[in-house]
Amino acid sequence: SAIDMDKLLSSNASRMSRRIYSDEAVYRLEQDRIFKHNWLYLAHESQLKNSGDFMLAYMGEVPVIVARGEDGKIHASVNSCSHRGVPVCSADKGNARSFVCPYHGWTYASDGRLLLVPQDRKKNCINKESLGLKQVPRIESVFGLIFGCFDPEVESLESHLGDMRYYLEAMFDRFPSGIEVVGAAQKWRLSSNWKLPVETLLGDVAHGQFLHGSFLSAKDMKNAEDTGLNVVPKAGHGSIMRLLPPDTPIEHMTWGMEAVLSDSVPEELKEYLLNTQRESMKRLDAVQGRIKASTLGVYPNFSAFGYHSSIRVSHPRGPGETEYWTWWFVPADASDAVREMLRPNYNFYFGPGGALEQEDVYSWQQQFIGASIPGMEDTPLVCELGLGEETSHPEMPGQVGDCYNEHYVRQFYLRWKEDMKKGGE
Ligand code: FES
Repeated sequence: SAIDMDKLLSSNASRMSRRIYSDEAVYRLEQDRIFKHNWLYLAHESQLKNSGDFMLAYMGEVPVIVARGEDGKIHASVNSCSHRGVPVCSADKGNARSFVCPYHGWTYASDGRLLLVPQDRKKNCINKESLGLKQVPRIESVFGLIFGCFDPEVESLESHLGDMRYYLEAMFDRFPSGIEVVGAAQKWRLSSNWKLPVETLLGDVAHGQFLHGSFLSAKDMKNAEDTGLNVVPKAGHGSIMRLLPPDTPIEHMTWGMEAVLSDSVPEELKEYLLNTQRESMKRLDAVQGRIKASTLGVYPNFSAFGYHSSIRVSHPRGPGETEYWTWWFVPADASDAVREMLRPNYNFYFGPGGALEQEDVYSWQQQFIGASIPGMEDTPLVCELGLGEETSHPEMPGQVGDCYNEHYVRQFYLRWKEDMKKGGE
């Protein structure tokens, strides 16, 4: 490869080239080395309960149909007709017995098999068995989160996650009824590199008091995470969290909103959140029950946001263009009334109209401009905070640093560099 990865990232990842965010050749190589060989988030099982349920997703730049087949299994097929390449499905989600290409009517099953070619009158010139939609060969799920991978030889999802599984469990397996993803994704475009939103949710606590400073002071809030921890369960994955002391009163531990502490919260919601927390404490182990994860990230581009109750994916669309998708999740047994009371928590602070997200998006877009200044490509960026200070934790798996430790960025990019080098030497 013409790209010298060691010039892009120093050996301990404390210095990185701006080209990592802005260079077209680096971006193209990522599509090949990162997105074709890693587990990528597709959908949540609550969105695909019945045979024929489907939704569209992306794996990097590749559009896929994720569907539950007649066999009850989840399948993912590239959304492009074998005849002339037209997308065979244009609805974001729904339930369908088959997908009929709008151009000449070739018809495919939920699992991608080619069922019918209307023009093949003598039924002898088309070998239907070999002309199904291209399949994503590996599909696995964890706590209802479905991931796919184009590389048939990839390690299991379980092994990819390593100790990240423990933290996913604390967020996604805490409710006895499970979680339910509600409605369609919010989707929006950012003039930013896809990795920057990922980094932010992996561990960037430091921006809170500055970027969101006026908002937080106007609301008389302080950044709750500036006393928290940055956890790296395995290189590339991460979480911003607080581990509450064992004697913390239950009303300080509830999932989702901090709302139960406020007088203005309706009794019904307060009651529901307290009960839900009691159930979660029985279900999770004694440490997991005390974890308040504000964010999680799974390498390469999946994020989850605890306070916002959202699942997020950062889809690459060019070095300086990202399509960001966010879904809202709630405990599956939450009543309609409780959902309505929780909804502002999803829409007010974050998402395309969110008061705080506007500020994040501004910085992500400005960062791409800074990473693209001519002549500055090789003036490196600094990822040195807390270098070497991360340690193991007595109660939780992974490497833990204080909230401003940039271990999470260094580990993300070391994993990224390893992948970018694979197959290229
Ligand atoms: Fe799909 Fe022709 S392109 S049927």
